[in-house]
Amino acid sequence: MSDRIHTLSGYFYEYQKSVTEPENFWARIADSFHWKKRWDKVVKWNFEEPNVQWFVNAKLNITENIFEKNLFAYGDRTAIIWEPSEPGEDSRSISYQELYEQVCQFANVLLSKGIQKGDRVIIYMPMIPEAAVAMLACARIGAIHSIVFAGFSATALADRINDCQAKAILTTDGNFRGNKKIAVKALVDEALEKSSVESVIVYKRTGQDIQMQEGRDFWWHEVTEGVSTSNKAETMDSEDPLFILYTSGSTGKPKGVVHTTGGYMVYTKYSFENVFQYSPGDVYWCTADIGWITGHSYIVYGPLLAGATTLMFEGVPTYPDPGRFWAVIDKHQVNQFYTAPTAIRALQAYGTEPLEPYKLDSLKVLGSVGEPINEEAWKWYYTHVGKSHCPIVDTWWQTETGGILVSPIAGITPTKPAFATLPLPGIQLAILDPEGNELTGNSVEGNLCVKFPWPSMIRTTWGDHERCKQTYFSTYKGMYFTGDGVKRDHDGYYRILGRVDDVINVSGHRMGTAEVENAINEHPLVIESAVVGYPHEIKGQGIYAYVICDTTNRTEDNLISEIKDMVAKIIGPIAKPDKLQIVPGLPKTRSGKIMRRILRKVAEGDTSNLGDTSTLLDPEVVNQIIAGKK
Ligand code: WTA
Repeated sequence: MSDRIHTLSGYFYEYQKSVTEPENFWARIADSFHWKKRWDKVVKWNFEEPNVQWFVNAKLNITENIFEKNLFAYGDRTAIIWEPSEPGEDSRSISYQELYEQVCQFANVLLSKGIQKGDRVIIYMPMIPEAAVAMLACARIGAIHSIVFAGFSATALADRINDCQAKAILTTDGNFRGNKKIAVKALVDEALEKSSVESVIVYKRTGQDIQMQEGRDFWWHEVTEGVSTSNKAETMDSEDPLFILYTSGSTGKPKGVVHTTGGYMVYTKYSFENVFQYSPGDVYWCTADIGWITGHSYIVYGPLLAGATTLMFEGVPTYPDPGRFWAVIDKHQVNQFYTAPTAIRALQAYGTEPLEPYKLDSLKVLGSVGEPINEEAWKWYYTHVGKSHCPIVDTWWQTETGGILVSPIAGITPTKPAFATLPLPGIQLAILDPEGNELTGNSVEGNLCVKFPWPSMIRTTWGDHERCKQTYFSTYKGMYFTGDGVKRDHDGYYRILGRVDDVINVSGHRMGTAEVENAINEHPLVIESAVVGYPHEIKGQGIYAYVICDTTNRTEDNLISEIKDMVAKIIGPIAKPDKLQIVPGLPKTRSGKIMRRILRKVAEGDTSNLGDTSTLLDPEVVNQIIAGKK
């Protein structure tokens, strides 16, 4: 725990050290881990290619740092508390020793299925402890896991399987969602129609009827039976990939963000312990899904590396009633609670009544992640959930950053509603204007970049390094560009303003507008479409689609719901447009570019000042769109 920041001056001291002597700083943090071989150099990098290496030539296995290094000291400690969707079902508690044995056993199963170091394994599972076992078993043998959010469609799953050429899929028969049962395995079967996957291992969760294909599909409980619970961890290079996680970008195709082993390990543990001020014995709960980066870094890797007790919740905040989060906090005496603004706003809409039966007196720290938190939601969270004594850590980061980059240190950094406050040690931010000039000093606003590498940063995009270079390292020379707008106020505090590219953030989930457009355009009657985000009270941003289509012989309402359903089927329910307007044309410039700025304004309902429309090919179309808006 020597790397813990305890005071504000301690934070400034550490931050300063991390900038003036980054290699010494990170070497000191990394020294507390177990390396099979120490590094030759702490960091080697350039942001031109880009080529970033941390703990160069060091050898390790991340699971040995979770287990072997610590079992003697705290093997009996609870690693995972699992709370099922159905409140009547028993929760589970798994100790570090038990988790270790399950991970080793499942690692042996993977090996027996011919999975080797470097092979890709897709995990398409709901929030059950076996999902964490699956991740860690992959890491144990050096297979690269790629988790696909269990709410994604068969098509989205198939795209990801094919992009990374996965050899195996780990999944369940079904999945509980509120009072519904979702047929997970059936989606896997659909996705596998055209793929090279050799084995599918199915954990029985709901007991619903499924098809099992002889020779390809195996039951989890059958393949693990009698298998040894000891396994010798594979030796990994610090820069060997640990996982691929697909995320949306400005262009249509999701990209596979690649994270590597050594740096990711060091940074997730360090940031977890410091941001949340976790102490041994505390119960920590992050409500994200393991299908997102937050689940990777702050349900599984960060907390388990820190020897924390991490709670996994299978359900949703409103089932069986909107008091469920608060019931779980009291039941398991949660000390640190980490959720998304969209969940806070959704629960806020029910008022404070659902909170009344609960004490919530175990809480010490509250966290927020995934999208900007508005001041009202921040205050509600602070007052009604944290009873005005729990600091809120508004943590800004991204799939690509691997860990939290800007956040208060709980209870140490003075907070300000809606501000992510200050960068963590090691994070050198820069704000740039559109011409690429760095804006120094305070009270400035621009695009957020990072100018020095940090251990858990993206290394490449799977199978397409050029895309990584173009997307993140080409906008501003020598800088990692985040895609977010930011303001640094008079105190030097950072406030994230949201995406400046064609990515929208719906309920904290990233969605590329082009991805949604591609799905809409699959409909045979659709001619063209344009998708933008608009402010949505609960979701943060909603999806607004403008669609040109052939309406002969069809009623508009019918067509609209058909197209919306089709998007849900192609990508997943989270991508379903909230509003879909059929339009006679789209505002295009003479060069054929859609002027999204205008479409955003119309979607927001702010048509008083549309700015300069003189470059439009047909300015009249804008009036028609405004007139047709419902
Ligand atoms: C947004 C989630 C404001 C931001 C960890 C970023 C935030 C994108 C915050 C990444 C925050 C995340 N305040 N905005 N505290 N946290 N974002 O990859 O726009 O799913 O670029 O990673 O979410 O989303 P991603």
